[in-house]
Order: sequence, then structure tokens, then C-alpha cells
Amino acid sequence: MNLLKGKTAVITGGARGIGKSIAMKYAKEGANIAFIDLRYDEISVETENDLKAFGTICKGYAANVADSEAVAQVVSEILKDFPTIDILVNNAGITRDKLLMRMTEEDWDMVINVNLKSAFVMTKAIQSIMIKQRHGVIVNMSSVVGVSGNAGQANYSASKAGLIGFTKSVAKELGSRNIRSNAIAPGFIETAMTKQLPEAVIEEYMKNIPLKRPGTPDDVANIALFLASDMSSYVTGQVIHVCGGLNI
Ligand code: NAI
Repeated sequence: MNLLKGKTAVITGGARGIGKSIAMKYAKEGANIAFIDLRYDEISVETENDLKAFGTICKGYAANVADSEAVAQVVSEILKDFPTIDILVNNAGITRDKLLMRMTEEDWDMVINVNLKSAFVMTKAIQSIMIKQRHGVIVNMSSVVGVSGNAGQANYSASKAGLIGFTKSVAKELGSRNIRSNAIAPGFIETAMTKQLPEAVIEEYMKNIPLKRPGTPDDVANIALFLASDMSSYVTGQVIHVCGGLNI
């Protein structure tokens, strides 16, 4: 369908999991891809090769997206390799799940920085490019627990709720420049992140999901494609749940 023909997308945490699925979906629809992950390792090389099979320009970069200096550096590298940036997907995220009683200040800061501060730092680094070209799309990866909260995830839920406030504020601030900002709130999606969960927690999730199955990274990537393409040209400041009904 070539929904993203000629566009360039920057995707954080794009080497694997949901980020990789989004990158694959975008490349298949004609987009050039710059993905950023913590390391440029064999997983990144594999992702880069998988993406290149679609025939667009695709490259992986290493940076900690919570570090503003590292982000400034990597964005300037990306701009040497790509003509512009049309789409930004703030997808990188981590968990440090613990009950509040055991959660340390370091657990808190780490999760808030990687999940929330990174979106601020990345969006700030790229917004002037989008403003100048008078178009852009930002997709932020929140979570159902950013809306509902979750025991054992105070830091993670706070970071994902913060992303929703950030998404809506950016939508209001940059809408007049034809820049759209939306969030996705996935539920239980099968990736390396959820593989770490104990069996009992997974069973509990399954009981509460009306569609009675875990989501796939592709389920999330389909919505990320909709939000990045002109099919959603009148959609901004929204949070789209992709959770098999877990939130109802
Ligand atoms: P994942 O752990 O499979 O992939 C996350 C990627 O982000 C990894 O490649 C990792 O190296 C990268 N990353 C982590 N910290 C980084 C940093 N500081 N700088 C650059 N890259 C960094 O996780 P998954 O499941 O693909 O999650 C992607 C996003 O979706 C995350 O924001 C997560 O919170 C969110 N999400 C995931 C859900 C799930 O069930 N898997 C549910 C709801 C939201």
C-alpha cells in the first residue's frame, strides 16, 4: 500500500520487540528507518538486515535515549544519513517492578528517565526539524497501566501516565504546526519484557483479557502504522488502547 512512501521514521528501542515490529511495518510501507537502541550489537545488525529487505534505507544507532547529550549526538548522526525526520516513535522502555516498600530511589529514577524523560529529550531534539518542514508525527508508547495503575509498578505506571500528559501537551503545543502527537497503550504483549513475568501473573492477565490471548508486537505495530500514516490525519492527543479489552 506504500502508506509511508518517502517518509523517514526514527524509532527508539527499535532493535527488538515492539520497536522492531513497528520498524518492519513502516519499512514495508515504504519508510526509511533510523532505529536507536542501547547498543549496536548482533541483534541490531540482524534487525538492520531484516529491514533492508524491504528496499528502503535502514540503519541502527547506539545511544541511551535518556541522556540528552547522547541524543543530540545521535540525532546529528541520523541527519547526516537521512534527508529529514517525519515520524518519531518514542518506544524504548524498561521495567524495575517492585512493591513500593522495596522500590529504591534508583529504581524510580531509572524507569522515569528511560520511559518518560527520553520522550522529552527525543522530542525536543527533533521538534525543530518537524516545525521547519511544517509536518510531523509523534507516537509515544504508553501502557494500560499508565491509565489503570498496577501494584508493583508504581515507577512504571507513573512513567507511562506521564507519557500520556506529555502526548496531550505536545498535541496542543504543536498542532498548529501540523505536528500530531498520540500515544498507544498496549496491554499484555508477548515480548522479552513480559517473558520475565511469573506464570501466576500471566494467568491472572489471561483471566482479565476478554479476547483471551496475549497481544503480539504486530498488533501494536498495526496501530503505530495507522497513527504514523495520513489515515489518522485528524487524530491527535489521543491514547489508543491495544489490549484485547483488558482496560474495560
Ligand atoms: P523490549 O524489552 O523487548 O524492548 C525494549 C527495547 O528498548 C530494547 O531493545 C532495549 O534495548 C531498548 N532500550 C531500553 N532502554 C533503552 C535506552 N535507555 N536507550 C535506548 N534503548 C533502550 O520491550 P517491549 O516489550 O518491546 O516494549 C516496548 C515498549 O512498549 C516499552 O516502552 C514498553 O514499556 C511498552 N509496553 C510493552 C508492553 C508489553 O506487554 N510488552 C505492554 C505495554 C507497554
